[in-house]
Amino acid sequence: MDRGLQRKLLENTSITNIPEELYEQAGKMEELFLYNRCAIKEIQTKLEILNDELAMKTKRNPIESISSRVKNPRSIIEKIQRKGFPLTVESVWENLNDVAGVRVVCSFIEDIYDVAAMFMKQDDIEVLEIKDYIKNPKPNGYRSLHLIVQVPIFLSDKALPMKVEVQIRTIAMDFWASLEHQVKYKKGIPDAEEISAELKECAETISATDSKMQDIYHKIQNIRI
Ligand code: GTP
Ligand code: MG
Repeated sequence: MDRGLQRKLLENTSITNIPEELYEQAGKMEELFLYNRCAIKEIQTKLEILNDELAMKTKRNPIESISSRVKNPRSIIEKIQRKGFPLTVESVWENLNDVAGVRVVCSFIEDIYDVAAMFMKQDDIEVLEIKDYIKNPKPNGYRSLHLIVQVPIFLSDKALPMKVEVQIRTIAMDFWASLEHQVKYKKGIPDAEEISAELKECAETISATDSKMQDIYHKIQNIRI
C-alpha cells in the first residue's frame, strides 16, 4: 500500500491525533492485512471441508453460511485507541485478536457445538480462548459462541501463527445480532431503552424457538417410515 493511499485511508477515519510514525509503517500495514487475509482463507477452507464432509455423511449442511472480514483500518485504530494501546502496527499484532474474523451460521444450536468441537481438535489449530455467550448470554441478550484460535499460515520462508476470531451462531441469533448491531451504532435513538428491552425480549423468544426447532428436528429424525 503506498503512502498516499495509506494517508487517505487513515484520514478517512475521522480519528484525530494519528502519529506520524503510523504513516511510516505503510509496508508493515500491508503485511498485516495480507497475512490476516491468508489466515481467513485457512480457517474458511477448514470449515468448508467440515461442512462438505458432514453434508455427505448426514445428508444435510450443518453450516448454513460462512462469512469473513479483515477489520478495516478505521475500526482497528478506533479499537486500539479505545483500549489505550499504542497506535503502532506491532501493537495491533500484539493486542488485537480480531483483525481476522470469520462468522459461521449454523442451522441448529447443536450444530454450533459439533462444528466447534471438530474444528478445535484439528492438529494445527490452537485454541486461545472460548467465550460461550450461548450458555452465558450477554445482558442485552446477545448469543454466539466465540473462539479465538491460532492457525499457521505458510509463507515463502516461514510459518507464521495467526490469531483469528471465529463467531458461531444460529440463523436466528445472526438475524438478531445484525439488527442489534444497527441499533448499537445509531446515535441518539429516541426510546433507546424501550428498543433495548424489546430486543432483549426477542433474544429470549429466539432462543426458545431455536431449542424448539431442534426438538422438532429430532422428532422428525426419529420417525421411521
Ligand atoms: P470487543 O472489544 O468488542 O472485541 O469485545 P471483546 O474483545 O470482549 O470480545 P467479545 O467476544 O465480547 O466480542 C467480539 C465481537 O462479537 C464483537 O466485535 C461483535 O462482532 C460481536 N459482539 C459481541 N457482543 C455483541 C453484542 O452485544 N451485539 C452484537 N450485535 N455483536 C456483538
Ligand atoms: Mg474482540
